[in-house]
Amino acid sequence: MDIVSDPGVLRERCRDWLRQGTVTGLVPTMGSLHAGHESLLRLARERAERVVASIFVNPTQFGPGEDLAAYPRDLDRDAALAERAGVDVLFTPAPEAMYAPGAATWVEVPALARHLCGASRPTHFRGVCTIVAKLFLLAQPTLAVFGQKDWQQLAILRRMVADLGFPVEIVGAPLVREADGLALSSRNVYLTPQERAEAVHINRGLEFAAGLAASGERDATRILSMTRAYFESHLPAGTIDYLECVDPERIEPMPRLAGPALFAAAVKFSRARLIDNRWVDVT
Ligand code: PAJ
Repeated sequence: MDIVSDPGVLRERCRDWLRQGTVTGLVPTMGSLHAGHESLLRLARERAERVVASIFVNPTQFGPGEDLAAYPRDLDRDAALAERAGVDVLFTPAPEAMYAPGAATWVEVPALARHLCGASRPTHFRGVCTIVAKLFLLAQPTLAVFGQKDWQQLAILRRMVADLGFPVEIVGAPLVREADGLALSSRNVYLTPQERAEAVHINRGLEFAAGLAASGERDATRILSMTRAYFESHLPAGTIDYLECVDPERIEPMPRLAGPALFAAAVKFSRARLIDNRWVDVT
């Protein structure tokens, strides 16, 4: 595996692959890799002839007061995991290499960023779209893999690719969980032992919501208020940032269940804000 930090070198390498007709898969990450990221790398390895993974803690997707400086970083460990997963090129640019002074261009999809994480992190998704668009221009991938853990991010990036005509297939990968059901996240290391014990109830609360839907309840507002009560009694150390039921593609609230829906939650603990989601289909 090669480690490349110069964007120009990555672009040349990937341009050669494109000229040769090579199927290139890209997996963008912010590092601190875990089994969730690894599943994306392995999926890219199965689907593509060449795999590029990027590790870049993208400053523009962090808001003021968020954990940009504290975001966990461990390049040696990440490089070992990426190599084991079959990555050909690990792209690790410096922030100055990705954002020139005076950079003033944004890519954004405001219509899909009004709810869920977009509501509590108003500049987050334009940071994500801008960096992913830049990575697509450098790596010129045939396909790019993103996790369903960040469902809204995946929906927004699908829209961006369709609207701007990027010749990239967006591949969605299933959410990977700990044995007890907690969604894997680089931010789980911030949890205190008590918070870690409580955090399993984020997934269990969403399962509870899905169970109500499966038993015939169609009033999403009622499901959400019962699920909110579950969260409040099982997550005393956490604060609910949001708990919503949305259309999985349009990311708009669904007051009544009809067809596919997504229950999604974000919970804030002392040092970590965790997100999770559960897809249901009542048709
Ligand atoms: P990061 O949080 O590092 O996640 C990188 C990719 O791994 C994303 O596509 C995310 O959905 C996926 N992922 C994380 N945890 C997962 C889990 N438990 N199961 C399955 N997939 C999981 O998401 C970002 O970085 C950034 O916003 C990025 C797209 C790299 C742009 O900066």
